[in-house]
Amino acid sequence: MSSSLSEFAQDVLAGLARSGQRELPSKYLYDDLGSALFEAITRLPEYGLTRADERLLRVHSPEIAAAMPPGAIVAELGSGSGRKTVSILDSLRARTGHKPRYYAIDLSTAALNTCARELASCAAVIPIEAAYLDGIARVAAGRDGSQPLLVLFLGSTIGNFDLSRATEFLSALRSHLSPGDALLLGADLVKPIPQMLLAYDDPTGVTAAFNRNILGRINRELGADFDLTAYEHEARYHEPVRRIEMYLRARSRQHVSIPNPGLRITIEAGETIWTESSHKFLLSDLDSIAHDSGFRPVSRWIDSEWPFAENLWSAGE
Ligand code: AVJ
Repeated sequence: MSSSLSEFAQDVLAGLARSGQRELPSKYLYDDLGSALFEAITRLPEYGLTRADERLLRVHSPEIAAAMPPGAIVAELGSGSGRKTVSILDSLRARTGHKPRYYAIDLSTAALNTCARELASCAAVIPIEAAYLDGIARVAAGRDGSQPLLVLFLGSTIGNFDLSRATEFLSALRSHLSPGDALLLGADLVKPIPQMLLAYDDPTGVTAAFNRNILGRINRELGADFDLTAYEHEARYHEPVRRIEMYLRARSRQHVSIPNPGLRITIEAGETIWTESSHKFLLSDLDSIAHDSGFRPVSRWIDSEWPFAENLWSAGE
């Protein structure tokens, strides 16, 4: 963790000490407390995303497994606890009679440990503590050429990227894959605006706590003095680009000092810090992204309760 501290400090400095919209990269929402709060979000009645993802995987994992050549290995980007991956691993095992090799790629040691423990009975788990593309590069370099690879990128994490960055990221991912490999991409779909807003501004206040925790983390890790109670959680839907944006809005003028990067700032009353974007997709967006990043759509499954799509794309020519 301490190796990322200086990168964290640099990113915080770059995001807060600027004249325009202040922002903090959303990946910093997920320290141990943030990850626990996100886990709580996934149980909120207003946040149907994770349950839809899990339902689709539960119902369609036999088809997903059947679409892969036998002996396929699996790599998951941002495995988290790996809970929703069990059904895919089980379906792959049912085809060959032995446990598939499963590379769990995550930056969180705690998540990797949980995942290795929870999935030990259904897969040969190989934890890789790395950023997504570094992790995939390691998996691709380490396999023998005969093992087709199924990459999982679930939970609509792709929605955190700008549309152009998403294509850039998936193209980079594609460059590590070979014909016969595939990507299973989970993507949350556009739905009525009030429903989307409620999912990111729940009446229980869990998402607000999740959002504010990023300031708590800066206090804890960089010795800053943010007053968390002075910031209001705000979720907006930016329609032209189809994304939910989360902000923290200062209720009154705030003076903040962050000793580690040596930063003192004044945040005006009403000013916001942008903490996350969560894109919502049209099916046509997903087709364009697949095409632009060098994948070929093979199958798609959509949840009937909560519009969410599981997309199976092949890395074939
Ligand atoms: C984990 C990035 C998919 O964007 O819906 C949930 C994170 N933020 N509530 C999402 C999140 C606020 C989540 N992802």
